[in-house]
Amino acid sequence: MRAAFITGYGDNAVVSHGEVPDAVAGAGEALIEVRAAGVNPVEVYMRQGAFHAAFPFTFPQVMGFDISGVVRAAPDGGPFRVGDEVYARLPNPRGAYAELAAVPVALLAPKPRTLSHAEAASLPTVALTTWQSFLERARLKAGEHVLIQAGAGGVGSFAIQLAKHLGAKVTATASAANQGWMAELGADRTIDYATEPFEAAGPFDVVYDGVCGPLVERGIQSLKPGGRYVGIVRVADAQSYREIGFPDAVATGAAAGVQPFIEQAKAKGGEFHGPLTRSDGAQLAEIGAIIDTGAIRATVSQVYGLADLAAAYDALATGRTRGKLVIAL
Ligand SMILES: NC(=O)c1ccc[n+]([C@@H]2O[C@H](COP(=O)([O-])OP(=O)(O)OC[C@H]3O[C@@H](n4cnc5c(N)ncnc54)[C@H](OP(=O)(O)O)[C@@H]3O)[C@@H](O)[C@H]2O)c1
Repeated sequence: MRAAFITGYGDNAVVSHGEVPDAVAGAGEALIEVRAAGVNPVEVYMRQGAFHAAFPFTFPQVMGFDISGVVRAAPDGGPFRVGDEVYARLPNPRGAYAELAAVPVALLAPKPRTLSHAEAASLPTVALTTWQSFLERARLKAGEHVLIQAGAGGVGSFAIQLAKHLGAKVTATASAANQGWMAELGADRTIDYATEPFEAAGPFDVVYDGVCGPLVERGIQSLKPGGRYVGIVRVADAQSYREIGFPDAVATGAAAGVQPFIEQAKAKGGEFHGPLTRSDGAQLAEIGAIIDTGAIRATVSQVYGLADLAAAYDALATGRTRGKLVIAL
């Protein structure tokens, strides 16, 4: 099968494409003909080897988490049949940019009817990350005020729309060029981070932070009493590490760096959360049903070919792309 892969850890010189052995479905897996695959910024760090201890690669390693496609083969008696259109987030970056992908059936969901394959492939990671952050961690309620940092990116563009769908009031941050874009997506107030501190719009019930770094402590300090801070960039907490299978003691050690944030949030009467995305077909089905009502749209800004994965990684590495990038097969 044709695929885009990396031949070792490194910069874009290791990104290549060509023929690799066909994916083979194991027990409990369906074989999917991939029509499109979404690109996520974490892959740039994975390409460089940043997570090689937790997710060791075998080269050539086919990259990518998010797919939309058509079922070629599925276990008998399961919920999916040959020919069904589906979308999914793979458990690890093990093969989205390829003509075929083997996917555990529990991770599949019907593709939203109203979306193209490219649009559907843009969603799994950003939608699941935000769904789990808003519903499981922050318990975001109608009428609450949420701050969305990096509102113009892949995660933020989905988060603005889901927060509005849940009935929240939304403030979102981006550069000057993206203020109109975030308003179009439904943000009640937009902030140009270069000219206005986000605290001017607070305090917030929930801060959803797609930037982190120096913004974490400021985000926690901008919470109302009882507020919840959810950071998604290199601030994973012990719960997240346990959820991806780390033993208790290892999870606690891996999350030691966020302990000061947990204490700062507690001192404000609030909570700190550092989730890592979990793949989940049932949640994608719920999200797909909302999308098909027209309440949330996909935000694909560029579609690349399999041969152009390095260009997509270059674009993501700028940190300035709008919405999502997708590879079409
Ligand atoms: N924890 C997890 O499991 C998890 C899951 C998904 C994503 N993530 C991480 O979350 C981050 C966001 O993901 P993404 O897919 O949305 O990335 P993305 O699409 O690459 O985000 C790009 C956007 O970030 C905005 N941005 C850059 N600096 C900013 C700042 N200082 N303030 C506000 N906005 C800023 C840019 O807007 P302007 O061009 O207007 O500046 C751009 O639109 C990434 O670091 C990603 O790796 C983590």
